[in-house]
Amino acid sequence: MDLQIEGNTAVVTASSSGLGKASAKALAREGADVVINGRDEDRLEETRDELEEVGPGSVLAQQGDLTEKEDIEALIEATVDEFGGIDHLVTSAGGPPSGPFLETDDEDWYEAYDLLVMSVVRLAREAEPYLTESDHGTIVNITSRSVKEAIDSLVLSNSVRMSVIGLEKTLSKEFAPDVRANAVLPGPHETERIENLVNQAIDRGDYDSYEEGLADWANNPLERVGDPMELGNTVAFLSSPLSGYINGESILIDGGSTGANL
Ligand SMILES: NC(=O)c1ccc[n+]([C@@H]2O[C@H](COP(=O)([O-])OP(=O)(O)OC[C@H]3O[C@@H](n4cnc5c(N)ncnc54)[C@H](OP(=O)(O)O)[C@@H]3O)[C@@H](O)[C@H]2O)c1
Repeated sequence: MDLQIEGNTAVVTASSSGLGKASAKALAREGADVVINGRDEDRLEETRDELEEVGPGSVLAQQGDLTEKEDIEALIEATVDEFGGIDHLVTSAGGPPSGPFLETDDEDWYEAYDLLVMSVVRLAREAEPYLTESDHGTIVNITSRSVKEAIDSLVLSNSVRMSVIGLEKTLSKEFAPDVRANAVLPGPHETERIENLVNQAIDRGDYDSYEEGLADWANNPLERVGDPMELGNTVAFLSSPLSGYINGESILIDGGSTGANL
């Protein structure tokens, strides 16, 4: 299926690894020019080299911290300087720390808000003129299945990410009809983050093998964790005109683990 996004420009944040990287890869494979972002310059350049091999488009690597307003402004400015506009914005970020409510302090809450919410606020604000100007402007926010069903020991994710959904729903109305906005809500996918958590649990003696540890994350009807490209492909589809009537939606990608009917 041709997603009809060849030659478009996509900005994907937090994309030197994981779900952001998989989304950038899926968009690049479809022929889009992609702009990737992350803090660690070496990792970002490695990812750029990898993505340059997957499609005919160009890849721009723009180092920056999503909690810094100036870095977000620089990301959008560098994109427009290089490609002349923006057609697709995909937002991902690092994850907030885990833990129960009584182990969080004010600083944890403000940091999680800056990383997960203010980054999306600022990205949407800066990118809006270019997305509106585009004939196919889209926003896809990568959040978590925690917005549908609170996850144990993840109070920051459970609470703060809800703001991104409120924002996404609002933008799907305020930026329409020029720009569509949707969100994807991942369950566990085998990214570097999950690999590290499993390896740490092995080091603590919780598991004998990586496979045993990973199986504990696969508590869903499909009995496996997701491949990041499965999420990336959905993000590319939501960015494409083939999904042109989907707007303001939040789509679970969790193998069916969330119990809610809707
Ligand atoms: N993987 C899953 O199963 C899963 C499930 C549900 C929700 N999520 C959520 O999805 C998001 C992405 O997770 P992931 O698994 O893709 O993580 P990951 O593999 O650890 O990748 C995180 C990416 O974000 C970048 N990053 C982190 N903090 C950043 C910052 N302040 N500014 C710019 N870039 C930053 C990292 O690069 P640098 O460190 O170099 O900056 C890296 O490229 C997280 O919010 C996570 O909580 C993931």
